[in-house]
Amino acid sequence: MHITRLKVDGFKNLKNVDISPHKDVNILYGKNAQGKTNLIEAIWLCSGVRSFRNTKDRDFISLDGDRFSIELDFDDGQRIQNISAAAVRPNVKDKNVSLNGVKLKALSGLFGKLFCVVFTPEDLELSKGSPDKRREFLDLSVAQIKGSYASVSAKYENALVQRNALLKNIAFGSASKDTLDIFDVQLSQLGSYIAMLRYNYVKKLLYFAAPLYEEISSGKEKLELIYQSTVFDDLEGRTDFAGDMANEYLAAMKRNLDSDLHSGFTQIGVHRDDLIARINGLYARDYASQGQHRSIALILKLAQAYILAQENENSPVILLDDILSELDRSRQSFVFSKIKDMQIFITCCSLSEKVSKAEKSPDFSKGRIYHIDSGKITEA
Ligand SMILES: Nc1ncnc2c1ncn2[C@@H]1O[C@H](COP(=O)(O)OP(=O)(O)OP(=O)(O)O)[C@@H](O)[C@H]1O
Ligand SMILES: [Mg+2]
Repeated sequence: MHITRLKVDGFKNLKNVDISPHKDVNILYGKNAQGKTNLIEAIWLCSGVRSFRNTKDRDFISLDGDRFSIELDFDDGQRIQNISAAAVRPNVKDKNVSLNGVKLKALSGLFGKLFCVVFTPEDLELSKGSPDKRREFLDLSVAQIKGSYASVSAKYENALVQRNALLKNIAFGSASKDTLDIFDVQLSQLGSYIAMLRYNYVKKLLYFAAPLYEEISSGKEKLELIYQSTVFDDLEGRTDFAGDMANEYLAAMKRNLDSDLHSGFTQIGVHRDDLIARINGLYARDYASQGQHRSIALILKLAQAYILAQENENSPVILLDDILSELDRSRQSFVFSKIKDMQIFITCCSLSEKVSKAEKSPDFSKGRIYHIDSGKITEA
């Protein structure tokens, strides 16, 4: 799929943006703090998935204005669809969202129409960084292909916060242990569902990631991805998330209760699970070099794009925010060769040698270049 028209006004610092992006490559360049990532974020919002930057509603609107509007047309392979989103202060939560002229309740109603994958410099830390980054990656990726997931994971977070608060109250003697039951049951049901979906997602990731990794390592290295659950020994083939799985989860929570009370927080559950990578049988977190970590991270993101393409029979729009300068020539070429049939938006600070080389490579002979300055965009 590809975006054919994009109009943005009053979203953060963006003013009167009106572009007709190229169906292959679009390069957005400009100095720091000019609005490049804001534009990527405006596109991302139209995918109906919560902001990858965790922007709050009130911060969508320009500080010196009182409304924002985004209008985006995209070709889904069969027809052109139109998305529009707008909000006016002070009712920043009430967004006026519509799809093909039909009003929707919220931005999340846009879910499942426009698919995007965003690569940011932080994503390059995905393999090397802390487990919460990998859980966040899994959560966002699963949410992109499973509409009900985001609300389940929000409910889980909510129940977890309440259970942790109770654990502390019990330790202080201001609540009794049986008040935990309701949250234990909730967490075990929601957690079982989350673990099952994440496990299945990791299998899909591996399906695409394994050959990609073999290629990036010139056939020398074999990648394995493992969903490491703090509750279940083996998730293969398990589907009964409301029955057997939830019972097993609940029993594990009960067994761990004394330890939870002692530490004051819930020590097991999907909020402590991890996505583990192994290269040639060795754990990446212990043995991988900086370069291997980066390759794993890139390949996880590429696999995410491939999964979306497979699920929708149509490739997603790729948003590369500021990552080219972070990659050496061979990794740049590798990434480009894998996304060459997709529409790409690339942000960078200058049309440096690296980027212009990449842009001139055969697959990038066609494309558009835009300059962003103080939130205004011009075609170069
Ligand atoms: N609500 C807002 N109203 C006006 N300006 C905003 C708002 N939110 C953020 N900004 C401004 O947007 C600018 C940042 O834009 P953005 O993150 O898109 O920059 P960038 O071009 O990607 O820069 P870099 O190259 O450093 O990543 C900052 O100057 C910031 O002050
Ligand atoms: Mg930026």
